[in-house]
Amino acid sequence: MDRMVIEGGHQLNGHVDVGGAKNSALKLLFASLLAEGKHTFHNVPNLADVGSAAVLLNSLGCETHRSGTTFTVNVKKPQSFEAHYDLVRKMRASILCLGPLLAKYGEAVVSLPGGCAIGTRPIDLHLEGMKALGATITLEEGYVKARAKKLKGANFLFETSTVGGTENVMMAATLAEGITVLENAAKEPEIVDLAEYLNKMGAKIKGHGTSVITIEGVEKLKPAEHTVMSDRIEAGTLLIAGAMTGGEVTVNRIHPAHIEALIVKLKEAGFKISQTDLSVTVHRQIGWRAVDITTNPYPLFPTDIQAQFMALMTIAEGTSVITETVFENRFMHVQELCRLGADITPKTRVAVVRGKPGGLIAAPVMATDLRASASLVLAGLVAKGATVVNRIYHLDRGYENLEGKLTQLGAKIKRIE
Ligand code: UD1
Repeated sequence: MDRMVIEGGHQLNGHVDVGGAKNSALKLLFASLLAEGKHTFHNVPNLADVGSAAVLLNSLGCETHRSGTTFTVNVKKPQSFEAHYDLVRKMRASILCLGPLLAKYGEAVVSLPGGCAIGTRPIDLHLEGMKALGATITLEEGYVKARAKKLKGANFLFETSTVGGTENVMMAATLAEGITVLENAAKEPEIVDLAEYLNKMGAKIKGHGTSVITIEGVEKLKPAEHTVMSDRIEAGTLLIAGAMTGGEVTVNRIHPAHIEALIVKLKEAGFKISQTDLSVTVHRQIGWRAVDITTNPYPLFPTDIQAQFMALMTIAEGTSVITETVFENRFMHVQELCRLGADITPKTRVAVVRGKPGGLIAAPVMATDLRASASLVLAGLVAKGATVVNRIYHLDRGYENLEGKLTQLGAKIKRIE
């Protein structure tokens, strides 16, 4: 298993390009199942999770091919409509093949993703949405079996804002008969990216990016071509890296609006931020205030940047209260940050971080999930000595060459097999 060794104390400076968004690319790849033929995606990040999506698509009879950041999916009618446990267990987002398979072929058998390190993460709302469109759903031997001769448009209200649920039901509704209205739909930019691709394929979707999405079902969709949006979580992580090390870092190829909630909090903490249409710069700042954050669905503060922001707060001046409202068990990085000398008291959904400027000291730590790993890498950048982050495969699931990008900015990082 790979480990990362980070020599703390090097200031990061310079420009860095953000790659394509994992959370958009995965859904776009699954959306291709809605139309046979060749789909072409650009700016697809080279990540373990994208590899897992490709394996799943291959198991459904699709041919996939990568050349640089361009990824093609040649969709053929599958022999079976089953997403096997071994594939879904590796990556929860695999559940996103349910809606497309059901809508296109009237049948889908997808393993239940099961629990997950950051919470129970049920898929009840995905299934309720499919049922509202007329699907029969049964749970057998750990698999969701969904059937429907022809889905029918309907009104569906999401009880909780769910990104995956909104995407799955939106994809299913593109081929349903009649009009579907999704209320309390999630508004994340990745949903907008997906809807834009579906519309290129011939779907009739309106309202994406708002809490009410209207989908007029069409008979058939066709393959298309699309450039994946930039990864706002990667952008946020790199900005925090610059901020923490007291350097000046510009992240390019990012829409500042996509990370507005983070920018607001960085400014509140005392950082000077400047931006253009497609870049954000955090300016050199020695010493910053502790600020409170509460995670919430977009456009509010993203749960996927909570761990990284906590790392920043461990060396702020003062005490910060971090509240996690999206997932029930997303403080696993706390224990590891404390191993580096941070002073954090976690309660169920709230963590109190008593900032200690200059107070982190290197230690061996363990990555527990994707964003938790990123927070440990950030802490390692400023801890005195060499921090060893174990189980770095979590990081490889969702960050493309993070150590390369940080090294380019001046970090001293080594990967050891
Ligand atoms: C997606 C992102 C993940 C991000 C999360 C929230 C991908 C691949 N992953 O995950 O990085 O952290 O959005 O922004 O895009 N819920 C239910 N029932 C459901 C579905 C969800 O109760 O049927 C709950 C979840 O347990 C969670 C909350 O809703 O508490 C939000 O989850 P959701 O938005 O669905 O997250 P994902 O789509 O899994």
